[in-house]
Amino acid sequence: MGFPQTRMRRLRRLPHLRDMVRETRLSMDQLVYPLFACHGKGVRREIDSMPGCAQLSPDRLAEEACEAADLGVPAVMLFGIPKHKDPQGSEAYAEDGIIPIAVRELKRARPDLLVWADVCMCEYTSHGHCGALRGEEVDNDATLELLARAGVVYARAGADVIAPSDMMDGRIGAIRRELDRAGFESTPICSYAAKYASAFYGPFREAAESAPQFGDRRGYQMDPANSDEALREAALDLEEGADIVMVKPAMAYMDIIRRVKDRFGVPVAAYNVSGEYALIKAAAQRGWIDEQRVMMETLTGIARAGADIILSYFAKDAARLIRKGSLGSM
Ligand code: PBG
Repeated sequence: MGFPQTRMRRLRRLPHLRDMVRETRLSMDQLVYPLFACHGKGVRREIDSMPGCAQLSPDRLAEEACEAADLGVPAVMLFGIPKHKDPQGSEAYAEDGIIPIAVRELKRARPDLLVWADVCMCEYTSHGHCGALRGEEVDNDATLELLARAGVVYARAGADVIAPSDMMDGRIGAIRRELDRAGFESTPICSYAAKYASAFYGPFREAAESAPQFGDRRGYQMDPANSDEALREAALDLEEGADIVMVKPAMAYMDIIRRVKDRFGVPVAAYNVSGEYALIKAAAQRGWIDEQRVMMETLTGIARAGADIILSYFAKDAARLIRKGSLGSM
């Protein structure tokens, strides 16, 4: 039946009716809050291109994480800034590296908060690439061993989820094997399965001091034009034992989120990355957009596309609004 019997506007007139027929409900249970850990005590170093975000020493990081947890955010994702960088990125898998220190501190402060640990080499290598080099290229197979060591070290420190973001082939299998061998067969892996070579990572590289010193990451991260390839990446990672697959970035890749969700029916995470955050912050600071509404519309869009889990620097702000129930006014 068409117009005038059918009038789509009938269910849009009243706020409570709109709430009742809303198809996507953003929940705090979905949120993961990314944080940057650095050495020291009492350190909070603001990141210019990511207003509100900072490099935090373990004590300050624990405070920030507790604040997020109090707001209802269930999980944080940790990135580390090492004391020294070297070609092998050795602090990435050092027992006394920044991530194990931060994980232990967090777990002491707030045992119920889920700690996700990003596993990658780029913050730790002097050349800024995501693995060990052979000549000017990242040596895939040599890097696997380093990543697996890092995964085990983070799990031993108490990390609840291991999240490799390096895009080496075979890393999920390598990390799964080493975790199992070390007795962490119950620790899940969230694979950054479809991670694109994106310009939206710019602010993060300032935050994590991880920009490549030569070349770029196109030799290992995905071409933004590809979609079928994302399904192959996700299929391989799932075969190798990934428990959750991630699509990253989120906003320009919502079709990928939907395809991965529809094809595999597994838990899908989406990373609302630093550049996406910076765009919204910058426009809002100029008074050009309404920050809260654009933020909620963005996160809702990512969830609507099929993401079960959303990593976002907006996690605390979003949790505040979700708690107030102000989604209805969107
Ligand atoms: C590390 C890593 C990156 C991000 C997450 N893990 C940067 C990159 O690949 O260059 C980006 C996150 C963001 O932009 O918010 N490999």
